[in-house]
Amino acid sequence: MLTAEEATDSGEAVASNPQTRRRETWGSRLAFVLAAAGSAIGLGNVWRFPYLVGKNGGAAFLIIYLAIVVLIGLPVMIAEVGLGRFTRRNPVGAFARAAPNSGWRVVGVLGVITGFGILSYYSVVAGWAIGYTLKAVTGAFATLTDPGQTGNLFEQFVGDAWTVLALHAVFMALTVAAVIGGVRRGIERWTLILMPALFLMLLLLVLRSLTLDGAGKGFTFYLQPDFSKVTGATFIAALGQALFSLSVGMGALITYGSYLSEREDVVIATASVCLLDTLAAFLAGLAIFPALFAVGLEPAQGAGLTFVVLPAIFHRIPFGGLFGTVFFVLLTVAALTSAISLLEVCVAYLTDEKRWTRKGACVLVGIVSFLLGIPAALSTGASPFFSQLPFLHVGYLDLMDTIFGNIALTLGALLLCLFVGWRWVPQDALKGVIEGSAYPGLGQHWLFLVRYVCPVAIGTILLQILMNLFVQG
Ligand code: PHE
Repeated sequence: MLTAEEATDSGEAVASNPQTRRRETWGSRLAFVLAAAGSAIGLGNVWRFPYLVGKNGGAAFLIIYLAIVVLIGLPVMIAEVGLGRFTRRNPVGAFARAAPNSGWRVVGVLGVITGFGILSYYSVVAGWAIGYTLKAVTGAFATLTDPGQTGNLFEQFVGDAWTVLALHAVFMALTVAAVIGGVRRGIERWTLILMPALFLMLLLLVLRSLTLDGAGKGFTFYLQPDFSKVTGATFIAALGQALFSLSVGMGALITYGSYLSEREDVVIATASVCLLDTLAAFLAGLAIFPALFAVGLEPAQGAGLTFVVLPAIFHRIPFGGLFGTVFFVLLTVAALTSAISLLEVCVAYLTDEKRWTRKGACVLVGIVSFLLGIPAALSTGASPFFSQLPFLHVGYLDLMDTIFGNIALTLGALLLCLFVGWRWVPQDALKGVIEGSAYPGLGQHWLFLVRYVCPVAIGTILLQILMNLFVQG
C-alpha cells in the first residue's frame, strides 16, 4: 500500500475517508501549463477572437488586446493561481480559507455558478463542432461551391432541434467522461496529447490559408492597423474577450492552481499560458482572414464565421475533406479541454466542500448543465420563443453569454482583484505567488497591478457593460 505522501506524489486519489484524502497534483509544470492553456484555448479563440479583430480595426485591436493581456489578464491569472495554490481548495473553499468567517466566500460561489452557466451553453456550441466533424467526414461540404450555400446549411443545421440537442448531450457526456478520471488520469492525460495536436493543426491551416491566391489582402487586413475603428467599445470588447479567453474571473484557475506544486514558478507558468492562448487566437485569425479574402468575403461576418466560411474554404483546397475533418475534430477538442475546466470547478466545489464523490458530482453537474443548455440549443432557430425572448429581444444563447460569459466573469475578476489586492493578507498573497519563483522581486509589481490597475480597468469596463445594457434595454 502507498503512504498518503507517496500516493499524492504518484497522483493517486487516496483513502475514502475525506479527512485523510490527499489532493491530487499535476505530474509536471508542463501538465499544468497545457491543462490551463487547454482551458484558455477554446471556442473563444477560434469563434470569437478573429471576429472581434475583424470588426475592431485589425492590428489596432491586436495591440490593445496584447496590452490588456499583459497588464490585466496575466496579473489576474497569477492572482487566481496563487490563491488556489496557497489554499489548495476549489474557489469557494479558497476564499473561505484565505479570509475565514467573512462574506468573501460568496465570490467563490459566484465563480462556481458562472462556470456552471457557461458550461451549459458552451456545450451547445461545441456540439455544433461535433456535428460539423460528422459533416466533414461524410463529405457534406463537397458539393457546396460558395459560402451562401454553406450559410444555408448552417442555418438548417442549428435550426434542427433533435440534432443540436443530441450533439449537446454527446459533448456533455465526453466532458463528464474526461473529468471523472480525475486530475492526472483524466484532465492531464488528455491535454498532454491534445494540445500539441491542436497547435500542429492550426499551423497547417495557417500555411494553407496564407498560400491561397488572393490571401495577401486578408493578411493586410488582419495586420494593418485601422485606429479609426478604435472606440471605447473596442476596449470593452478587448477586455471582455481577454477575460473570457484566458478563463479568468470564475475560478477555473483557482481550481487548477490548487493542484500545482509549491516548487513551481507561478509567474512563468501563467505567462506561458497567456502566451499560448494569445498565440492560438492570433493563429486562428491568420487561418481565417487570408482564406476569407481569398474567396472574396467580407471580414465581419458574425459568430457563424467558423461554421460558414471554413467549410467553403475546405472545399477549395487539396485534401480538403480530410483537412476539414481534422479542423473540426480539433475545434471540438479545444472546446472539450475548456469545458473540462468549467466542469472541474463545480466538481472540485462539490467534492471539497460537500464531500461528494467525484463520480457523483461529475454525473449530476453534467446532467443539470445539459438541461440548462436545452433552451440555448433551441434558440438558434428551432424554437421561435427562445430565439427571440419576449421583452428582451435577444436569443437565449446570447442572453446566457451576456450574463455569464460577460457580466459575471467581469464581476468575478473585479472581486478577485479586490480580494487578493486589499483583503487577503499581503504576505500570504505574495507567498502564494512567489513561492518557487526564480524572480521573487516581480511580486511587488504584480501586487501593484492587482491593487490599482486591474480593479480600475475592470471596474470601468463593468460599468460600461452595465450602462450599455441599460441604454439598449
Ligand atoms: N477560455 C475559453 C474560451 O476561450 C472559455 C472559458 C471561459 C473556459 C472561462 C473556462 C472558463 O473559449
